[in-house]
Amino acid sequence: MKRPHVVTLSRVCCSLAAMLATLAACLLVMPLSLHTTAQNAEAFKAEMTVRADQPKGTINRNIYGNFAEHLGRDIYDGIWVGENSPIPNTRGIRNDVIAALKNLNLPVLRWPGGCFADEYHWRDGIGPRGQRPKRLNTSWGGVIETNAFGTHEFMDLCELIRADPYVSGNVGSGTPQEMMDWLEYMTSDSDSTLANLRRQNGREKPWKVPYFGVGNESWGCGGNMRPEHYADEYRRYATFVKSYSGNRIQRIASGANAEDYNWTEVLMSQAGGRMQGLSVHYYTLPTGDWNKKGSATQFGETEWHSTLLRTLRMEELLQKHSAIMDKYDPQKRVGLMVDEWGTWYDPEPGTTRPSILYQQNSLRDAIVAGINLNIFQQHADRVQMANIAQTVNVLQAVILTDKEKMILTPTYYVFEMYKTHQGATLIPVELTAPEYKLGQASVPALYASASRDKDDKLHLSIVNLDPNRPAQISMKIVGASAKSITGRVLTAPAMNSVNTFDKPETVKPARFTGIQVQGDQITLSLPSKSIVVLEIQ
Ligand code: AHR
Repeated sequence: MKRPHVVTLSRVCCSLAAMLATLAACLLVMPLSLHTTAQNAEAFKAEMTVRADQPKGTINRNIYGNFAEHLGRDIYDGIWVGENSPIPNTRGIRNDVIAALKNLNLPVLRWPGGCFADEYHWRDGIGPRGQRPKRLNTSWGGVIETNAFGTHEFMDLCELIRADPYVSGNVGSGTPQEMMDWLEYMTSDSDSTLANLRRQNGREKPWKVPYFGVGNESWGCGGNMRPEHYADEYRRYATFVKSYSGNRIQRIASGANAEDYNWTEVLMSQAGGRMQGLSVHYYTLPTGDWNKKGSATQFGETEWHSTLLRTLRMEELLQKHSAIMDKYDPQKRVGLMVDEWGTWYDPEPGTTRPSILYQQNSLRDAIVAGINLNIFQQHADRVQMANIAQTVNVLQAVILTDKEKMILTPTYYVFEMYKTHQGATLIPVELTAPEYKLGQASVPALYASASRDKDDKLHLSIVNLDPNRPAQISMKIVGASAKSITGRVLTAPAMNSVNTFDKPETVKPARFTGIQVQGDQITLSLPSKSIVVLEIQ
């Protein structure tokens, strides 16, 4: 893995207190490998009020975005197989993946990196494929990058799945001129040499590129810059990120590594007025230790709990980064873009190429996704985009492929169940629920978020973090009637249940039958370790 050089103290995400609490939990709790919980455990009780009478702002649909990098088998194999592949494809892009992503209503897709973005030179990826140069992908294992998948192929993918492109530009090893030229090539309708080169390469009409990243992790793999230096570089590069031919570009500055609040402070104070978005990256590691992150599938309740505890830190990060942004941008003009998030585990056992960052995806990942998406929604006033890392075969992927086979991960289904929240109005949820404790550490047992769509339907997503106990929730809705309530539930027999190429449907949504209505009184019975999405109309 090419990451340790950017592993700072701030990346080792847990506080001392949380680490001690986890250690205490380790001592108190027997490791439960492949643990299946008792189905007849007593339910814990909770109360929930959905305040449909107090609508908030709009949930930006871009928080349901994805990120696909030239890393491992994300682009090559996962998305791109080439026109001559026996795997069914459209102009080289896998048909099964196109259909799966289209079904998610994926709003936005970030590309080509990640760390790869700051070593990518766009001219390598245009023109006849046979003549494109082969480069070393020094960020990810030193493999040969054939450049078969370049700008035209990426834009084709976005059009096929109807997602907006979010292109990350190269600040680390590129020039402002190169960045400017790329935008002219992609978006200009003029008779310029670059626009004509695009036409010559098969694309008459310019594309729309609404989002452009000015560097990636410029504190680390994107150039190891100090925030003051990057703020100046940002100002220089962003000057040449221009809007051509009616394309209205949003410039997104490379943001903080997790709780590096000073980065946000410096960027906002020195360049805040010149950006439309500022990113932040935060990964969930079960142990919080980059040298021994924890397994994707071989874990017990201790790591289940510590993973959820660490993923909940997203709440604090968003609050604190938002508070800094509020000082410089009280109008909330600049979006906080969580353009990399998700779980990051140790390489799969027996892997010969750890740099491909392939990992299985279990029910625990689905719970992580459900919590994070609920958190992003709660911060709808500032969080304008989020991009899970990554789309196919890398980190917390929504899709896994093995040659001609494809499976949808538990995380995929969370995105699919939550898509009803996209672009809807945030509705507050008041929740009184117990904590789910392990040793000295505790997390809320439930995490919920609600919205109202343009047809006046309410959607409520509830995560039960407790792997042992079902939840019995007494629910009230204020400001809307509930003539019909239906829902879907995602759960599985074990915390580490996964979908495999042989058994692809172990974790998938089912109809939710735990709804009881008596007059105004609604009772929900959620299984342990589950995610429920209700539709109320
Ligand atoms: O998503 C994998 C890597 O994580 C990205 O390339 C980089 O931006 C981050 O550190």
